[in-house]
Amino acid sequence: MTKLTLDRILQSQGYGTRKYCRGLIEDGEVTIGGEVVTDYKAAFDTEGLEFTIFDETWLYREHVYIVLNKPANFECSRKPSHHPGVLTLLPEQFTWRELQPVGRLDHDTTGMLLMSDDGPFIHAQSSPKRHVPKVYVATTHEPVTPELVAQLLEGVQLHDEPAPLAAQTCRMLGANQLEIVLEQGKYHQVKRMLAAAGNHCSALTRVAIGELTLASLNLQEGEWAYLDAAQLALLKPSDAIS
Ligand code: URA
Repeated sequence: MTKLTLDRILQSQGYGTRKYCRGLIEDGEVTIGGEVVTDYKAAFDTEGLEFTIFDETWLYREHVYIVLNKPANFECSRKPSHHPGVLTLLPEQFTWRELQPVGRLDHDTTGMLLMSDDGPFIHAQSSPKRHVPKVYVATTHEPVTPELVAQLLEGVQLHDEPAPLAAQTCRMLGANQLEIVLEQGKYHQVKRMLAAAGNHCSALTRVAIGELTLASLNLQEGEWAYLDAAQLALLKPSDAIS
């Protein structure tokens, strides 16, 4: 059991500095178990703790693991330059908690974006050694041909890479649409691979990571959800997929 004082609890959950959190508590903004708590030194077991702040109820979480259905025209960078950042789509306390994207999507790419404040998780999940398959659906400018699919499966040379990069799997979905699965996450990889194979990517969406699919999450673009333990377990490397 971990017992923490209420000011520390709120600070850990991203509500601001300890001083600011004390002010919120003293102003009667925090309710626990139906009672307004105004003593910031009151201590609570954090396990399963629910608190209501500004009329919204939250569960205490040591770390946050979320998935966002990213819309186009949002940047994954912490210091976005041309479009709003993805953090603007999330509750403000996640910015304070320093949530970071697990691997980036381009500003015009849509779909599944994992975010967390758990450094080792982010590192492990984005490590190229982990071989977590990422599934993309690409819309192409020129029609998809069997030759294009074959080229992407065989490997294409990108000019700043030492060796050709190949799709793990690739299949045609429609006249101008293909599904491509990559284990790496190089800069603009899908777009550059399609360009290197003589086509052009006009729209891109990430539809799955490991065995976790965007479709299973029922999120509209711009919506997000916490990932539970079962969903996190689906984010596995391909050699672990049965
Ligand atoms: N490949 C790309 O080209 N862009 C992305 O956003 C992700 C993969």
